Amino acid sequence: MRDARDDWKRYDAHAIPSKHSTPHLDAFLRDLIHHAEGRPLALLDVGCGTGRLSRRFFDQGFAVLGVDINREAIHAAQALAMPADASGRGVSFEVADFSDDAPPSIHGGPFDVVICQLVISIIGDVRHRANLLRHARANLRPGGWLFLSASGVSDAINPGYARLYADDLPLTGERHTYLSRNDRGEVLYATHHFTDPELRDLLETAGFGEINVTTTRETSSRRPDEAAFFHTAIGRTTGT
Ligand SMILES: C[S@@+](CC[C@H](N)C(=O)[O-])C[C@H]1O[C@@H](n2cnc3c(N)ncnc32)[C@H](O)[C@@H]1O
Repeated sequence: MRDARDDWKRYDAHAIPSKHSTPHLDAFLRDLIHHAEGRPLALLDVGCGTGRLSRRFFDQGFAVLGVDINREAIHAAQALAMPADASGRGVSFEVADFSDDAPPSIHGGPFDVVICQLVISIIGDVRHRANLLRHARANLRPGGWLFLSASGVSDAINPGYARLYADDLPLTGERHTYLSRNDRGEVLYATHHFTDPELRDLLETAGFGEINVTTTRETSSRRPDEAAFFHTAIGRTTGT
């Protein structure tokens, strides 16, 4: 059985898949900043890769901590770090594992917002996904926000995915999960595509409320010529 953590620990940091355009995320953060009063909002970017988005969040006005399981990525991200100013706003990076059963030890929380951009689909199996959400919630203040993006079940718009789901089912043991491979056919990691109700259910079970899932037709982050659905989901911890 593959261990997703091993896949991501050894992944070439400079080839970590990412999306250049994130309109839903941008709009969500603009709205949060717009309604913020006083101190800068604290943002935790889980699975930050080499820190490009974390740095962008800092430039937008957030106090940011980026975390990732890949040491090489965090090492590269340090080049984008900024020390905290008098208001406490900076951007820093740490190695952390958000899918382990044991909670990661994270500095600077609780956070106003946790971002998991393109993480829940690749983080491992059902238990790892639940751990990710549990640890995200534990690092949020009451009334804090979670934003996540996830790949959506895409066989209806891309027959290639229908084939992948069917071919890889005996290997992954899970419907709508397939193995992402490089051009030489070597397996890089497993990817799970979510249905909308599945994602809502996961968030509800993890204790999030005010859940809002939006589904859009986009392209795959590694293969821009492949049509795929993507979900963006927002949830909130209870309390204010
Ligand atoms: C598809 S990339 C997305 C990177 C970044 N969020 C972006 O959108 O540009 C997924 C990231 O999640 C990280 N990751 C995978 N498993 C993790 C875990 N258990 N804990 C923390 N980070 C993890 C990977 O190392 C990788 O950087």
